Amino acid sequence: MTSFVRSYTDKLSYQPGETVELFSGADGPTDASVRLVLLDKALGEDAALPAEPTEIAWAGGGRYPIGEQETCIGSFAHVTLPAPPSALSEYSLGAWVWCPSPAVASRQAIVSSVDPASSAGISLALVDGHLALVAGAGPDAEVLASVDEPLRPATWYLALGSVEAKGRTLQALPADPLYGTPIVATSPATAATPLNLTLGLTIGGAAAREMVVNGGVARGIAQDRFNGKIEAPFVTAATFSPSEAATAQVLYDAVMQSVVVGVDFTATPGERSFEFDVVPSGIGSGLLLNGPTRAMVGHTWRGQVMAFVEAPEHYGAIHFHDTDIVDAGWNVTLTEVLPTELPSGIYGIEIRTADAVDTVPLFVTPAEGTVRKKIAVLIPTFSYLAYANEFLFAGPIDFEATKLGDLKLTSADHARYDGGPYGRSCYDTHADGSGVSISTSRRPILNLRHDDANWLNGGGRGLSGDMYLIEWLVQFGFEFDIISDLEVHQQGLEALTPYNVILTGAHPEYDSIEMMDAFLAYRDGGGKLMYLGGNGFYWKTAVASESPFVIEVRRGYAGIRAWESHPGETYLASTGERGGLWRHNGRPPQELVGVGFCAQGWGVGQPYLRTPASKDPAAEWIFDGVDETAIGDYGRVLGGAAADEVDRADFRLGTPSDAFIVASAGGHSNHMQRVIEEIQMNVDGHGGGQQDPEVKADMVYFTTPLGGAVFSVGSIGWSGSLLSKDGENGISRLTCNVLTRFAAG
Ligand SMILES: [Fe+2]
Repeated sequence: MTSFVRSYTDKLSYQPGETVELFSGADGPTDASVRLVLLDKALGEDAALPAEPTEIAWAGGGRYPIGEQETCIGSFAHVTLPAPPSALSEYSLGAWVWCPSPAVASRQAIVSSVDPASSAGISLALVDGHLALVAGAGPDAEVLASVDEPLRPATWYLALGSVEAKGRTLQALPADPLYGTPIVATSPATAATPLNLTLGLTIGGAAAREMVVNGGVARGIAQDRFNGKIEAPFVTAATFSPSEAATAQVLYDAVMQSVVVGVDFTATPGERSFEFDVVPSGIGSGLLLNGPTRAMVGHTWRGQVMAFVEAPEHYGAIHFHDTDIVDAGWNVTLTEVLPTELPSGIYGIEIRTADAVDTVPLFVTPAEGTVRKKIAVLIPTFSYLAYANEFLFAGPIDFEATKLGDLKLTSADHARYDGGPYGRSCYDTHADGSGVSISTSRRPILNLRHDDANWLNGGGRGLSGDMYLIEWLVQFGFEFDIISDLEVHQQGLEALTPYNVILTGAHPEYDSIEMMDAFLAYRDGGGKLMYLGGNGFYWKTAVASESPFVIEVRRGYAGIRAWESHPGETYLASTGERGGLWRHNGRPPQELVGVGFCAQGWGVGQPYLRTPASKDPAAEWIFDGVDETAIGDYGRVLGGAAADEVDRADFRLGTPSDAFIVASAGGHSNHMQRVIEEIQMNVDGHGGGQQDPEVKADMVYFTTPLGGAVFSVGSIGWSGSLLSKDGENGISRLTCNVLTRFAAG
C-alpha cells in the first residue's frame, strides 16, 4: 500500500517527436500504469474535478515499477583535489560566515572533509548555533570541541578551527568588533584527527556523494547542510592561538600566508555558474551543488556598490540553504519519444498506482517547419515556476483573515509544505528566513497540475486557471497552438510571428527582457495580443542559458512581495541584470498592454461596466451581442470576472494616449487592496475597494500603427468566467468577438 505517486519530467515544453524523460516516485515499491492523455478540461463549479482526459496512443504507455526516490536537496559546494596535499596532522579550517538564524538546524557543516562511506573525517561546523569541531557527519557525529556562546544572527564572523597535537582551538571573530566580542574555546587533544583531503573538501555540508553535472547544473547529496552565507573558505597548514590584539581581518591575512586550499566564490554572470575557482591555481576544481544563491554581499560590503558586476570583490559570498534544489536527480522511470504527429496542445503523462494518481503536464509546441494555427496560447511557465510548490498559506501573513471564506487546503498543499520535500517557491523563504530566488522544473511540482484547486482563490490558478481558457477554446471550436514562456525567451520574436494573435494565460507575471522585447516587437510589427489575465509582466526574470529549466528572480525592496532582498542583492546572478519590478526597470506593463497591476484581494469578484468610450465606433464591435449590463457577475474564480489580482490603465505609466478604456470593474470589498508600489505615504483613508477608486480592473483596447492591436482585461479571474452558463455569457461572447477579429489577421 502506497499513499502517493509524484513525478516530473526533464522539461516543461516539448516538440512532437522529442524525447521525454519521466521521473516517478512513491512511498514504497509499487507498479504504475502510465499513459499519455490530452488535457483540455478545466475544474468545474466549486472546483469540481475536470472530466476524464482522453488517452493518446504512445509507445511510452505501459506498466512500470516505481518506488522511493532520493531527492537532491540542500545546497553545498565541493572541491575536488586530483593530487591532494599529503594528510595534514596540524591544520586549520575556516571561512567567513553570516547566518540569519545560526541555530536553525542542529548540525551545519561550514568546511569539512568527511568520507561518506566510513564517516571518517572532520568538520568545522555549527552545532545548535555554536561553532564546533566535529568528527564525522550526521546526528551521531562526535563533537570534539565547541564554544559556549552561540553566533549572533546576521553578523559576519571569521570562523576558524585549529587542530594540533597539543589541543584544538576554535575562534569566531566578528568582522566588525562593534557586533560582538571574539568567541574562543580551546580543548586538549584526546586523539589525533589528521586531515585527509583525498576525498576533497565539502563546504556548507559534509559527506558529499552522488555528485553529477547535468544540463548546466550540478546536483548531489550531503549531510549537515548549512543555512547562511559562506565566503572564502580555506584549509591552512598552520594553527592559530587566540590573540587579544588580532582583529578578524588581521587574523584572516595571517591565515592566507599558509593557505593549502582556498576558495573564491566571487560571482561573474554567465555560463557554468555551478563552478568556482580554487586556489592555488591548478590544485583543484569546485562545484556548486543543488543551486545555492550566488552574487551575495560579503564581509567587506558596506554599500559601496549595489551591483555585483561593478565590484565583484565585495560579492564573494554564497548563501547556502538546506531547501535549495535545481534537479531532484531521481532515477528515470521511462524515456520515450513523443508521437511525431502529435498536434500542439497540453498533454499529460498520467501515472496511476493502485492507490494514487498523478498527471504531469507537457506543453507540446508545434514541430519546427509545420504550418501554424492562427492563434497561439502562451503558457506562462515562468510564472508556474515562480509559484512552484508555494505554501504562502503557512507563511507570516494570516490569509484566513484577509480573504473571504476558509482556506481549503488539499492533500497536495499539505504534502508540499510538510518538510518542503521538493524545495520551495519564489513566494516562500528558506528555513533561515532568506528569500527563495531560484526555482526549477526538475522536481515534483505539486501545484502544477491541471486539476489543482487553489487554496487562495478557491478555483483554478496557475495551470488549472489557464485550463478554463483551453476548455473554452475547444468548446468554441477555435484551433490553436501552444507555446510557452521558454520558447519566447529563447527564440524571441520568431516564436510569435507565425501567429495572428497571441493569447496570454491568466497570470503571466514573470518575464525576461528577451520576452518583453519580443512582445513589443510583435505588437508593433502588426501582431495582436490578448492579455487575458492580471498581474502580468510584473517581475523581471532571468534564465541561465545553460540551464533553461531554472528561473531566477530578485524581489528588491518594492512591489507585492513575499520577501525582500538583502540590500545590495537585487542583481540577478544568472545574467548580471538588475532584478525587481519591470515598473522599476523602466518597463511598466501599461506600456506594453495598456494596464498594470494595481490591486489584489480575495473577496467576491466584480463585473465590468461599460464606459462611454466603449460606444466609439472603433471599439463598439467588442460588445456585439453582449447584453449584460454587469458583464461577468459570475465565474469559477471568486464568483466574478474581475477577481484575485487586477490591473488598471494609467496614461502616466504608459497606457497609449489613444487607448480605449472600454469597461472597468470596481466596487470590490476592502479585501481588495491597492498594491504597495502605488502608495507613497501611508495615511489614513487608503481603505481598499470600497474607498479607493483606483482599485479596479480596466478593459483596454488599442491599435498600433502597423496594424497591431492589444486587448487587455486586467484580471486573473477573467478566464474563470468564460465557461459559466455553458459558455453562453457576456465574458465569453466578448472574448469570442475579439479573438475572431484578431485571428482573422
Ligand atoms: Fe501574482
